[in-house]
Amino acid sequence: MNFDKNGLRPLQGLGKRLFIETYGCQMNAGDSEIVVSIMQREGYIYTENIKEADVILINTCSIRDNAEQRIWGRIADMRRYRKAKPSLVVGIIGCMAERLKERLIDNGGVDIVAGPDAYRDMPRLVREAESGRKGVNVVLSQEETYAEIAPVRLDKNGVSAFISIMRGCNNYCAYCVVPYTRGIERSRAPQTIVDEARDLFAHGYREVTLLGQNVNSYRSGDVGFPELMAMVAEISPLLRVRFSTSHPKDISDRLLEVMARYDNICKAIHLPAQSGSDEVLRRMNRKYTRAWYLERIAAIRRYMPDCAITTDLIAGFCGESEDDHRQTLSLIREVGYDSAFMFKYSERPGTYSARHYEDDVTDEEKGRRLSEIIALQSELSTASNARDEGKEFEVLVEGASKRSDKQLCGRTSQNKMVVFDCGTHKAGDYVRVRIKGSSSATLFGEEIL
Ligand code: SAH
Ligand code: SF4
Ligand code: F3S
Repeated sequence: MNFDKNGLRPLQGLGKRLFIETYGCQMNAGDSEIVVSIMQREGYIYTENIKEADVILINTCSIRDNAEQRIWGRIADMRRYRKAKPSLVVGIIGCMAERLKERLIDNGGVDIVAGPDAYRDMPRLVREAESGRKGVNVVLSQEETYAEIAPVRLDKNGVSAFISIMRGCNNYCAYCVVPYTRGIERSRAPQTIVDEARDLFAHGYREVTLLGQNVNSYRSGDVGFPELMAMVAEISPLLRVRFSTSHPKDISDRLLEVMARYDNICKAIHLPAQSGSDEVLRRMNRKYTRAWYLERIAAIRRYMPDCAITTDLIAGFCGESEDDHRQTLSLIREVGYDSAFMFKYSERPGTYSARHYEDDVTDEEKGRRLSEIIALQSELSTASNARDEGKEFEVLVEGASKRSDKQLCGRTSQNKMVVFDCGTHKAGDYVRVRIKGSSSATLFGEEIL
């Protein structure tokens, strides 16, 4: 029997099965692991088989309209599962839950709606739903960080894990829904982060990625982000440390100095530019100029000549002219990104740009600009990988390569994927590899014996 730790009442879950499906960014992936942890304490058993689930949760993303459309499709699918099991409980959690609230119950027919700060309340919400009532909690918090809840690791590669170090965002970029769905910025106490990383290392993990919407604004007492990175890097030289994402307006020399000092802090920075035009950046409320951005790129290269730089770009923001678009292309070429995530602007209801600007670039035009950006970046990614041919890298093995079990795959410090013959190695090993060939997405190497 499942009893709670005081032995006073049978646990609500009583061996019932929970399935969770996750969309959106790594923060959401981390949150799903927190939710599973909270539900397991109530006796629910996590299952990877949706057909045997008693409770299905969908952890959702609102960042672009197509992300939400996909999720509406999944919500419609739930009718099929409900037909097979009438007692099924269906919950929508995460950013779309926060944005749409009760509308998900009215239009989607789901039982539970829970925002990103309401996960401690999940057992109660499920209990409500089990007794035939709707469970809704979309209250945002100023303090919640789930600091002491040990996430149940769902992505079981056993080598690389994500650690959320902060929640929310205060930047209010004009196009972005995140400050509305995730609330204000708050940081987790550093010791809880270091303890989590140390525990992962003790369980065989060799890489942690520190996560936040803008990790540079991490602050807890005297500890800022550079100090936190150093604390995590000190755990062991065998534990790699990564982070995502940095806002260009506050990537400091102090951070670059700490990155350069530790070999186990990976030489890769994701620095979303969004646009190469000062006028567009101003209207996006990004709070930096093209010149400032380029100076920060130069600073990164000064401290770490071998650092990979990647970015996010938006095509067709409100009022973007052909000339603005050309400036984005020229920025891409000038920086020479190693890779990039590229998107068409998608208006999000309630954001500053939805309220004050006109979404005046046609979809066709956005598509054309986006393809030009993608074509240029693909050329640069291919060139960046070709430049690695002949060089040596230390690769952290993640597991068998997708194409052949005689080959392994793993990443360089620069976060590039390398495929090479197994030899005697396994996941979690560090292997010195020389690059022999490449494509736009992958490096092919040989172990240096
Ligand atoms: N906090 C991170 C980004 C989170 S969202 C940062 O500031 O770097 C990830 C990316 O999605 C953004 O960098 C942006 O390029 C893109 N994005 C966000 N809102 C968007 C929108 N409304 N339309 C298109 N792309 C968007
Ligand atoms: Fe959105 Fe800007 Fe915050 Fe990133 S920094 S989450 S783009 S508001
Ligand atoms: Fe999406 Fe929310 Fe992340 S909107 S990108 S899941 S913070």
